[in-house]
Parts: sequence; C-alpha cells; structure tokens
Amino acid sequence: MWFCVVRSSDLGKPGAFKTVQVGTESILVTRARSGAVRAFYNVCRHRGATIRTEESGEVKRTFQCPYHAWTYDLDGKLIAAPNLTKMADLDRVEYGLVKVHVREWLGYVWVCLADDPPSFEDDVLAAVTERLGALDLIDNYDVPSLEVGRRIVYDVQANWKLIIENFMECYHCATIHPELTEVLPEFADGYAAQYFVGHGAEFGDEIQGFTIDGSAGVDRIPGVSEDQDRRYYAITIKPQVFVNLVPDHVILHRMFPMAVDRTVVECDWLYLPGVVAGGKDLDKSVELFHRVNEQDFEACERTQPRMSSRTYAKGGVLVPSEHHIGAFHEWVQDRIG
Ligand code: FES
Ligand code: FE
Repeated sequence: MWFCVVRSSDLGKPGAFKTVQVGTESILVTRARSGAVRAFYNVCRHRGATIRTEESGEVKRTFQCPYHAWTYDLDGKLIAAPNLTKMADLDRVEYGLVKVHVREWLGYVWVCLADDPPSFEDDVLAAVTERLGALDLIDNYDVPSLEVGRRIVYDVQANWKLIIENFMECYHCATIHPELTEVLPEFADGYAAQYFVGHGAEFGDEIQGFTIDGSAGVDRIPGVSEDQDRRYYAITIKPQVFVNLVPDHVILHRMFPMAVDRTVVECDWLYLPGVVAGGKDLDKSVELFHRVNEQDFEACERTQPRMSSRTYAKGGVLVPSEHHIGAFHEWVQDRIG
C-alpha cells in the first residue's frame, strides 16, 4: 500500500535525507539534484550494510557506504567502488540502490514498496472522497502550502491497529476527552465525525476556535468554505494516516509500526506560512489535540497488554456505534489473506 513517510519540506534541498521504517524495511528518502524526491532501500548493494543510520541529515552529492565505501549518487546509481579494477563490468545501474515508488501529495512524500504499486487514486485519494463526498473539498485547506508549526513524536507501546481502531470510534470521547467534547459537543454522544459522509462536527455555540479553552484560533485558511467553517473533519487514510481539518489548521498523523506492540506516531500541526513566520502563539491550538493524542495513546497502551488475554474476544462488534471497527478487522484480514 501507499505509506506516508516524510513532509516534503523536511527535504529542503538536494542531498537532504530522512530514513524511515516501513514495515521491517529501512527506507532512505532524499531529494535528487533535479529537485525530485527519491526513495531507496537503505541497504548497500555490496554486502548489505545500512547506508545511513541517522534519522535525518544532509549529504553533498553522494551516499557512501561506511563499510567498503561503495558510493551512490542522489539518483541511487553506483558511481564508485574502491579496488574494483573491472568497474566497467559491473552494471552501475543494476547495482545501484534499489528504488522505491514515490508520490507527493498534501505536501508529504508517500512510498510504496510493492513492485507494482496499487493506484494512488484508488487507495489514497478515494479515502478522501469516501469521507468528504468530494476530493476537491480537501483542496480548500491547501495542505501542501501550509507549514509545520509544531511536530510532536509519540512513542506508543501499542500495535498500530489499536491506534487506528481508536481513532475510528468516538464511543470513548465522553469518557477520556473532556476538552475535545467541550469544543465539539456532539462527540459526547459517541458517534465519530468520520461516521457520516461529508459530515463535519460543529463547534459548540460558545466556542470560538479549535483550541484547548475554546478561545479564538489563528488566521483562517482562506479557501475554507462557509460550510467548513466552525467544523472539524477527520479522515483515516489506511493504513497509517489521519488527517484532521479545522478552519485555521490541519493536523496530520503518520503512524510507523515498529514492533508488534510499538508504534511511533509523528503528528504535525500545519498552519498558514504567515502564521508560523509571524511567530503567533500556537500553544492553545496545539495543546487541544496534543492532549487528545495523549489520552488516546494511553487508552491504547492500557488495552495492548490485555488483548492477548485468553478471556478477551469480540472487540469492536459488541456496540453498534463501533461496527466500523469490525469492518476494519475484516479489511485487515482480507489484505493479509
Ligand atoms: Fe557497503 Fe561493502 S557493504 S560497501
Ligand atoms: Fe480519541
């Protein structure tokens, strides 16, 4: 499947790179001299050493393996290998870094490790249409042009699927999200906004903005329509992305499954560039969803260790408002055959 890995702006110039874990693979994402984004398996073609072990960094023009110094250019081509007298006999493209399919959308780099990637339109864009009713409604928020105002990385001791399931239901909202239900009163009823096509949860009457205390937010994103104003929309893009849309910012979560019982979640709060550059106080708007994240992840961590209890069964099918969790289980089982 398509997997969202890196904010494009984190790869500022050619040679900037990030390494990310996708499943059990390490992937090296970088920007070539042409400005295009490239992604490779982070595996030296000589004897398999990890090319880069840092999470991020910058090279001038090549990636050199620290083991025996095989050297690759930013397009992954093998350009040097010491003591190889017959370098000409070694096909430099054939022994280049193994490429991974790349797409850019919403200002993020998405990769796919399949030889033959599924259609981005069917897998990724369809999730937005399914949720909002029309793909262009997300364009109103102009997500690629927004800037990262805050990023918080959470190391969650729970399986990635628990985090997805939790995000899909709001049956827990009244119990664990006091601040969120204050801002979005309908969430106290337990029906998640993403339950209905095109539905955005409305702010409470007294609420001025999507902030921890309901005070006014920052500058509204100009393209947001009257319909979308004073509303919160949530979209799940399987397998590992949540997009949250409110009038003045967008919150985007990327989940990186690290182990059966561990997931790293990178959460970006995105605002208009002027808001970020102008040094506006973002604390009140960041604090609301940061608290929601902590509350959700704590619930997942509380659940994870007991899911393997011999007495646990039928999760996600007992309560009608959670039926989409059952549907998610079917989807997972179907995908893994
Ligand atoms: Fe990379 Fe030998 S393993 S150069
Ligand atoms: Fe929640």
